[in-house]
Amino acid sequence: MTKKHVLIGVCGGVSAYKACDLVSKLSKLDYEIKVMMTENATKFVPPLIFESLSHNSVEVDLFDPNNQDPITHITLAHWADCVVLVPATANVIAKVVHGLADDLLTSTFLACTCKKIICPAMNTHMYENQVTQDNLARARQLGYQVFEPVVGHLACDDTGKGKLPDVQDIVEVINQAFAMPLMLKGKKVLITAGPTQEPLDPVRFLSNHSSGKQGYAIGEAAYQMGAQVTIVSGPTSLKASQGIQVIPVQTAQEMFEAVKENYQSADFIIMAAAVADYRPEVVAENKIKKSDENLTIHMVKNPDILAYVGEHKTHQIICGFAMETQDLDENAKAKCIKKNCDILIGNNLFTKGAGFQGDTNVVSLVTQESIQHWPKQTKAELGKKILQAMIEIEKRQ
Ligand SMILES: Cc1cc2nc3c(=O)[nH]c(=O)nc-3n(C[C@H](O)[C@H](O)[C@H](O)COP(=O)(O)O)c2cc1C
Repeated sequence: MTKKHVLIGVCGGVSAYKACDLVSKLSKLDYEIKVMMTENATKFVPPLIFESLSHNSVEVDLFDPNNQDPITHITLAHWADCVVLVPATANVIAKVVHGLADDLLTSTFLACTCKKIICPAMNTHMYENQVTQDNLARARQLGYQVFEPVVGHLACDDTGKGKLPDVQDIVEVINQAFAMPLMLKGKKVLITAGPTQEPLDPVRFLSNHSSGKQGYAIGEAAYQMGAQVTIVSGPTSLKASQGIQVIPVQTAQEMFEAVKENYQSADFIIMAAAVADYRPEVVAENKIKKSDENLTIHMVKNPDILAYVGEHKTHQIICGFAMETQDLDENAKAKCIKKNCDILIGNNLFTKGAGFQGDTNVVSLVTQESIQHWPKQTKAELGKKILQAMIEIEKRQ
């Protein structure tokens, strides 16, 4: 079997030396490695080290007169099955998300059509600077995978977020990129995410604390795996990658309509939104005035979107979500059966590291026959695992 080609782009940051360990580890796996460096990176680590570790020449200069190939950046971009910037400096991140190509590394990156992974590492203030955060948000929108730095004691003596993750974790991310690339190519994935808002009058609504992070994370994972992704999204501040279709909705009724329009053509349906079960029966035309009396609001039931898709399911694999505060396993299993789901992701709001807003989740994967308790993990990681579980179910059908 031919080896997969991994192109490592090393930028001029203090953790450039860790890229040596990465190249060494990857070379021992089933990969062929080539390294490109910025001019500044060569001040931190000499190219010779990477040449020795990768058994390939290292490219630095776009206009190297000794290079036999006059268009190295295009040749390298064609060669790569995956390009990884490690460490990615604030400078190179800013350049690549704006299409700047003023050296070999950035020109090659721009020409690459393969999977792109960015591993930022820098001083915590550089990392937290709004400009860098905006650039990373843009990187995600462009479909690049950003492997976030970790919190730690940095070389500059500051403590905070900005440290390059463990090299072994970067190896895992690269393995993952190859383990499930395009597993969903040609498939349509429909996801609901975020809260719904049920208006009470022109200025007020009833809602919940859902951030939409889990639904969007599943959408990103599905997109990375090659699916055509649609997110029916309640109001959130999140932005999806450019290639993902987002249908913004406000109320449960609107979400229901959007799902009805899209579920038939979907292959995988993931209902991660926190949908209001009830809505005020009457939406006041004008702002409800304060009076001396208590206010009673009469609520009516909203449509049950998950039950609807479960009932009308033909070929689709359906994943529901259940957030409980007690008897999680029993309630989740009962819901999975009642709603005709293939899997149901249950979480307990009171478990540390689970639930709304945060970047991690602790869940149980429930099928009609079994329950698996999964350890705490990031919502991004969980997004991939949920899709993998759904793919396995599809294979068995
Ligand atoms: C000792 C030293 C360490 C540095 N470490 C980092 C770093 O970890 N991350 C970063 O983004 N910039 C770092 N910089 C700043 C970059 O080297 C600088 O922005 C440079 O222009 C980056 O060049 P490049 O992006 O073309 O590789 C460091 C600079 C010095 C002098």
